[in-house]
Amino acid sequence: MITRMSGTPRVLSGIQPTAGSFQLGNYLGAVRNWVSLQEGNDAFYMVVDLHAITVEQDPAELRTNIALAYAQIIAAGVDPSVSTLFVQSHVPEHTQLGWVMQCQTGFGEASRMTQFKDKSARGGSDHASVGLFTYPILQVADILVYQADGVPVGEDQRQHVELTRDLAQRFNTRYGQTFTVPKPLIVKETAKIFDLQDPSSKMSKSLPNGAVFLLDDPQVITKRIKSAVTDSESEVRFDPAAKPGVSNLLTILATFTDRDVETVAASYHGLGYGALKADTAEAVVAFAAPYAARVRELTGDPAELHRLMATGAAKARAVAAPTLATVYDRLGFVAVGGE
Ligand code: TRP
Repeated sequence: MITRMSGTPRVLSGIQPTAGSFQLGNYLGAVRNWVSLQEGNDAFYMVVDLHAITVEQDPAELRTNIALAYAQIIAAGVDPSVSTLFVQSHVPEHTQLGWVMQCQTGFGEASRMTQFKDKSARGGSDHASVGLFTYPILQVADILVYQADGVPVGEDQRQHVELTRDLAQRFNTRYGQTFTVPKPLIVKETAKIFDLQDPSSKMSKSLPNGAVFLLDDPQVITKRIKSAVTDSESEVRFDPAAKPGVSNLLTILATFTDRDVETVAASYHGLGYGALKADTAEAVVAFAAPYAARVRELTGDPAELHRLMATGAAKARAVAAPTLATVYDRLGFVAVGGE
């Protein structure tokens, strides 16, 4: 059986290389949390290029974006000598276990995944690939192949982690204890950063006007934040229902300056939205400028970047391969050479 000897919990997460630059929502909702989870956990983080091709990608852009995503995770503070940082397609066990898990999943069960429903509704179901439909099951394999205990993700990924739990339990019941049943790790306060132009939707690269891209020039970032939609009052108060725009800015500022939103809100007593916007822009730029410089440095040395990727893939495979071997054995497959 594949149990881990060390008592250190294992966490695993992934991010798609589908935009050149991460936007603020990716960073605050995901990668920032990855950085803090390195302490006290055995952390596995990956660039999910296999997930990216569920929608059409330009090959040259994808190649650039994979390197950029990998570099940005490091620039954000993930240390590849502490965590296992790798590219999903470098570890073939993901797709191998993915197939096995597809065979454990009911068609109706897969059809209930809301992210697929949303994404396919946008492009029309004729344009949605079968890969987009089975996307959550590949994600299940990503998690289970490492026997992860915790999965740090944004709120939108909760359903996929629930599916992972269901399938792990189902497999364990049918074939004997094989997989760790993971838990979602969701940081409530920053799980959702909203669009600056439409604070009722989540910040996303698909709505570029309301998003802040961390690799943009400081002037562009500042302009974006200063033109954020607020409301017709003038009082700075944290009230996401009544004041979504202002509350979103407070969340961003509080997170970047390591304070809680109420403290930050109180400090604007008697001051207007202009002051809040200026300070938020300043806090974001204070992070983004050195971040962008570090990304340039890393992508400027492709040999070193590829060396880091190869080391990460080797560390990942050392965990993934034994899991897959056990799974194949449990299923009744005959090993090469009969061993
Ligand atoms: N689906 C996730 C997202 O879009 C990315 C992802 C792929 C992931 N595999 C994963 C997240 C495994 C956590 C664990 O954000």
